Amino acid sequence: MSPLSAAGLHRFYRRGGSEVAALLDVGLACAPGETVAVTGPSGSGKSTLLALLAGLDNPDGGNVQVCGEQLSHRSARDGARLRARHIGVLTQSSGLLEHLSVLQNVRLAASLRRRAGGGGGPGADELLDRLGMSAVRRSRPASLSGGETARAGLAVALAGNPDVLLADEPTAEISSAEERDVLDLLQQCRPTHGATVLITHSDVVASRADRVLHLRDGRLVPG
Ligand SMILES: Nc1ncnc2c1ncn2[C@@H]1O[C@H](COP(=O)(O)OP(=O)(O)OP(=O)(O)O)[C@@H](O)[C@H]1O
Ligand SMILES: [Mg+2]
Repeated sequence: MSPLSAAGLHRFYRRGGSEVAALLDVGLACAPGETVAVTGPSGSGKSTLLALLAGLDNPDGGNVQVCGEQLSHRSARDGARLRARHIGVLTQSSGLLEHLSVLQNVRLAASLRRRAGGGGGPGADELLDRLGMSAVRRSRPASLSGGETARAGLAVALAGNPDVLLADEPTAEISSAEERDVLDLLQQCRPTHGATVLITHSDVVASRADRVLHLRDGRLVPG
């Protein structure tokens, strides 16, 4: 069974009087354990695709399946439960709650996953340790550097051992040395039997993936 698949995804946005086709007939099937990178110019539909794969948005056509269950077009409550159970998401804004420490952010994410019937893997302290974040685990997100913010966002996405990890530009805004660190950590901590989808502008990130998909004007194109 594919941990994550999508077929015939279309998404249109209205802007002013006109319609923007953000995604056109995009399909994807991840093999267990596979890491897929999605690249493409700014505005090509990468974040739109990630939002659909995460069930944070619904497609205008097509569907998304996660671990054998349909994710798209569920009630908000069922969609949120499926996401909490199976999916870890790192969006372009890190998604960390500012009033909680890094450790509290990770614990909260893990407990939400447990309550949704998922969960497992290393505890919050161990996860932060593996991500080299022990020293800042009591810090608030506002006090973190760019690289630390990326790793803290990753720790939250990985909390409770999700089946599917979706990350939008996990290494944007960090140095190339930090990028290498984050990629090493990602390689160690990613879902072993599930799916990892990394959206990126970086050739280094793409080179670590098992497969690279290229988006242009909302369509998958040959590399
Ligand atoms: N909520 C929205 N309303 C209207 N148009 C939108 C909305 N979200 C995205 N778009 C448009 O859809 C297209 C795809 O946007 P998307 O954010 O998916 O691009 P992207 O590939 O992630 O770009 P970037 O690399 O800059 O993050 C763009 O033309 C964008 O302007
Ligand atoms: Mg984007």
